[in-house]
Amino acid sequence: MQKRITTQAPGRINIIGEHTDYNDGFVLPAAIDLVITQNLATNGTDFTCNLISSHYGDTFQFDLRNFKKVPSGWQNYLMGVVSEIQRQGKTLKGFDCEFGGNIPLGGGVSSSSALQVSFVYALNEVFDLNFSKVEMAKITQKADHNFIGMMGGIMDQFSILHGKKDHVMLLDCRSLEYEYFPLELGDYQVLLLNTNVSHSLADSAYNTRRSECETGVEILQKTGLEITKLRDVSLEQIVAAKDILPPNVYDRCTHVVAEDERTLAATKALKEGNIKRLGELMYASHASLTDLYKVSCAELDFLVDQSKAVDYVLGSRMMGGGFGGCTISIVEKKNVSEFIAFSANAYREQFGKELTPLEVRVGDGAKVVS
Ligand code: GLA
Repeated sequence: MQKRITTQAPGRINIIGEHTDYNDGFVLPAAIDLVITQNLATNGTDFTCNLISSHYGDTFQFDLRNFKKVPSGWQNYLMGVVSEIQRQGKTLKGFDCEFGGNIPLGGGVSSSSALQVSFVYALNEVFDLNFSKVEMAKITQKADHNFIGMMGGIMDQFSILHGKKDHVMLLDCRSLEYEYFPLELGDYQVLLLNTNVSHSLADSAYNTRRSECETGVEILQKTGLEITKLRDVSLEQIVAAKDILPPNVYDRCTHVVAEDERTLAATKALKEGNIKRLGELMYASHASLTDLYKVSCAELDFLVDQSKAVDYVLGSRMMGGGFGGCTISIVEKKNVSEFIAFSANAYREQFGKELTPLEVRVGDGAKVVS
């Protein structure tokens, strides 16, 4: 008998805590109200899978017994998930799936993770795989590592699966324990500005950053410190090791450790309703991502700088992996239209390009729709 399901998975924002997840640190993400919707049904075959993307206006077929990565394309995100499920010894049969949605692609709100999560969620239901949410988060993360070659952390998948309307979550990326906090910003709101820039070398630069952090840990271990990740290290310990850390590694480590502290401080500020402090921490995060972690780009820096020229923005920073994508800003509600126009004009004048504003709201995590 044919089994059919519709699932949906949202994109995500991250208030603060960038490039901390794969260092076992803290992040403060939330799911948003933009989603990928996935219709998936068994097709009566044992091995034939048909993928249909209304998002990309494209179709693709593969055989469950024998498939491999295509040079580049959305298919890899889905085949990577299938490959990971098979690695776990689970059996799938032929299926047809079609996805679409309203998350901007490559816009820094994790459309690819939303695609993978909506897909694994649908497969989980249709083939009775019995994966928990945490297991699904890990499967999609490993799909990126093993099939795509992008060594991402767990933040995107985890927050997309566990999102809660109107709440951000403080996620401990080591224990995967998390706590929800209402995102109450008073007269202010979150606004994303998509630079519409995505740099093709972003994945390899991301992997390089990750290995620079690992190099830092290895060097620090040799000094006798009992650590496994940068999460275990204090700023004092990094400063004390300055002479033996290569300058780039020193900078990367400093960012990660200070960003963890900022994330905890930002959570405290949010709890206390101190939005001004939250904004300051976001600006500090951006400066560190630009100067120490070196994952920003001219377009992102420009938009963050512009926001400092007006008094109704409390904080702004690049969001996500970097090298393009969005800025996230805390803007006074009554000035949002003015800020969008101000930023868009300046951006056009500077780069001859259009930005895309995204007034996202915080929504629920992935779910079965029908
Ligand atoms: C990307 C990755 C995440 C995280 C961010 C940076 O979005 O997928 O795991 O590392 O970059 O914070």
